[in-house]
Amino acid sequence: MEEILGYIKNNKQNYIEELKEFLKIPSISTLTENKNDIARCAQFVSDNLKKIGLSRVEIIKTEGHPLVYGEWLGAPGKPTILIYGHYDVQPVDPVELWNSPPFEPTLKNGKIFARGATDDKGQVFMHFKSAEAYFKNEGSLPLNVKFIIEGEEEVGSESLNIFLKNNSDLLKCDAVLISDSSLYGPGIPTLTYGLRGIAYLEVEMIGPNRDLHSGSFGGAVANPINKMAQLISKLLDKDGKVTIPGFYDDVIKLTKKEKENFKTLKFSDKNFAKDLGVDELNGEKGFSTLERLWARPTFDCNGIIGGFTGKGAKTVIPSKVTAKISMRLVPDQDPNKIAKLFERHIKKIAPKSVKIKVTNLHGGYPSLTNIENPANIAASKAMAKAFGKKTVFMREGGSIPIVTEFSKKLKAPVVLMGLGLNTENLHSPNEHFDLNHFELGIISSAYFMKEFAETK
Ligand code: BES
Ligand code: ZN
Repeated sequence: MEEILGYIKNNKQNYIEELKEFLKIPSISTLTENKNDIARCAQFVSDNLKKIGLSRVEIIKTEGHPLVYGEWLGAPGKPTILIYGHYDVQPVDPVELWNSPPFEPTLKNGKIFARGATDDKGQVFMHFKSAEAYFKNEGSLPLNVKFIIEGEEEVGSESLNIFLKNNSDLLKCDAVLISDSSLYGPGIPTLTYGLRGIAYLEVEMIGPNRDLHSGSFGGAVANPINKMAQLISKLLDKDGKVTIPGFYDDVIKLTKKEKENFKTLKFSDKNFAKDLGVDELNGEKGFSTLERLWARPTFDCNGIIGGFTGKGAKTVIPSKVTAKISMRLVPDQDPNKIAKLFERHIKKIAPKSVKIKVTNLHGGYPSLTNIENPANIAASKAMAKAFGKKTVFMREGGSIPIVTEFSKKLKAPVVLMGLGLNTENLHSPNEHFDLNHFELGIISSAYFMKEFAETK
């Protein structure tokens, strides 16, 4: 292990230079104009996996964005891990708020700034580089490794879902290893055992058949934006509870033990509020902040498009408005069921003066992993060794929809070894990744391979 660790230390600068090349590619999955960049990015991933020494690497075409598969199965009798990650990124807007261009990776104060730095290119790359360290020093890995890196995580993982259904033999493994989440705090080794799910819908509300003069018509015909605002405000009550009938039916209550564990994590509401620049936090009554974030479902409007948004004033009653809605879900809520309940309810409470169209954009199941399995135990030991501290366990508010599909279809435990920080501006301007955590992630990955190999 000494040699491996030495190699990682000595090569950190090279790794960062390579990561920069990865980050330069604007692989935004939701925008059709970035389709070529997505293809270039899949090629980069494939080239890098070949370069580090895998025996088989393939770019797999799909109806959507390509998948990259890689494997090295030269350790017969040893366990097999499947390493998953995503090379796609979120859009960069509002681009004017970035201190350096999102696709020109910039180093500052031990961090690398670029879209995708922490979510997820920087984290995926840690595993490429730990494998490289083994190949360069020992010519082999301690166990069998498969990689599946996708380009649609940020838009719902549809193609990987289909691929997984038809190719569960190819992806068969003893554990799935994912680094696409966060540490509890800087320098704290952390494993995540729960993720929220999501239901994402778009609601279009249509009023008059054309935009109207707000003086000649205002007051006599419904303004869709006013109606949409009223509708949205009805979906949460004064205690922060979602008012959709049946919404909470399948929510599993927190156990006493879990509540206690959350408390031991010593979360500071004050520091959290300060970091976000708000005077007061806000959420469902009767729950702590960690409970609200990790174990309670939400309703949020993510954006409203409609009416006059240009400079100056224009007096107009818009003909239509669109709202983007997300609901974060917790076990055992079902995204399809929630989407139906939502649609039924809003159609019922919307006024007759407007028409409504609901589109279900994507959904993902929440997940909860029992961590008493050899893979999570090995990961906990590995991170503790790398960081020199005891590993903590937490849940998370974000979603990685494919996690539930992996557990169901591969029947293997999932290890969520995230090395990001929730303060690293993922999905927001000035996304970055702590390079110290990058190195600790490579070391954790290397230790994990050794630890888990010894379990068989
Ligand atoms: N890496 C994130 C999920 C995440 C964020 C996990 C923070 C833990 C901490 C992932 O790439 C992501 O953003 N997922 C989307 C999924 C959605 C588009 C289906 C999300 O949560 O919004
Ligand atoms: Zn991600």
